[in-house]
Amino acid sequence: EELEKGGFDHYMLKEIYEQPRSIRDCMRGRINAAEGKIALGGIKEYANKLKNVERVVIVACGTSWHAGLAGEYLIEEYARVPVEVEYASEFRYRNPIINERDVVIAISQSGETADTMAAIEIAKDKGATIFGICNVVGASIPRVTHAGVYTHAGPEIGVASTKAFTAQVTVLTLMAFYIAQQRGTLTTSKLTSLLTELNSIPEKVQTVLANNELIKDIAAKVKDSRNCLFLGRGSGFPVALEGALKLKEISYIHAEGYPAAEMKHGPIALIDKEMPVVFIATKNSSYEKVISNIQEVKARKGIVIAIVTKGDTEVEKMVDYCIEIPDADEAFLPLLATIPLQLLSYHIAVMRGCNVDQPRNLAKSVTVE
Ligand code: AGP
Repeated sequence: EELEKGGFDHYMLKEIYEQPRSIRDCMRGRINAAEGKIALGGIKEYANKLKNVERVVIVACGTSWHAGLAGEYLIEEYARVPVEVEYASEFRYRNPIINERDVVIAISQSGETADTMAAIEIAKDKGATIFGICNVVGASIPRVTHAGVYTHAGPEIGVASTKAFTAQVTVLTLMAFYIAQQRGTLTTSKLTSLLTELNSIPEKVQTVLANNELIKDIAAKVKDSRNCLFLGRGSGFPVALEGALKLKEISYIHAEGYPAAEMKHGPIALIDKEMPVVFIATKNSSYEKVISNIQEVKARKGIVIAIVTKGDTEVEKMVDYCIEIPDADEAFLPLLATIPLQLLSYHIAVMRGCNVDQPRNLAKSVTVE
């Protein structure tokens, strides 16, 4: 087992550190940046279907559902197709309105989640085309879907999903660009520049990992908190949800993720000097709005930890702790901003003496409903 952990104290930490490689593996052979082209062999038979698709419905659970939300932003933004993201466990019991013109994307690391399997069967019965995004090759979900794209993140042992999430988001990014390519909603030059930048994401993830010691110091300051809020806007919102899920899964600290603007509709009541609030405050379209949300939290003495774009000095002046990530197009924010949150949860959980790789009450794949 020690050998399998590759010198890391836990599988989770090893898997966090594997992300530059797992994201690269996920893109391998699928991108031709110079020509602005994407090849997704697993779904190529459906290229025509995607050209005219009217709606995409994403079904998943847990972290995979968060990846689905990140996918919604990407597919709507670049391919201009309306997307709905559904909890598989709700979708299956709702007599959902689905027809043969819909494409349903089922996301699952394990490929064995019972609720996601059931959602697929229902959508299939109603005539939809089903794509899978799975990590485990040959699992049940890839066998029942019409087509799909594997994430190729490699085995994920830690119960808390890390590298599988970033690989799912990478596949969804590729799918969004692929659908855009079929529908002609992105010019070749725009696609070329996006793909060139996507190619540089593994290196950028590596630079985020270099903040590990700083993140560990921040973890030491907030490890005894009883609650924690994670706030982000736009594609920072799924990152906030995933950050909160990671923290509660492995450290047992109560954590909530919210769209930052929703704070004033309720969660703001919780803020006092004991409450850490993690903001995704990178320089993208919602930057100014997030800054005003940070001011609202500071005015109530909350402890603010901000994920910021490298070189940002404005946010630094108003918050307690800053973690920098490299500048990147908004499309790639979830791939970078998630990494410090994984490390923060990891260190907090270790400092609290929790079983990081096998948290209580959780199983790696949930094969019962
Ligand atoms: C993630 O950290 C979880 N342990 C859990 O939410 C998981 O993502 C969920 O059960 C879905 O699993 P799947 O991706 O294997 O379908």
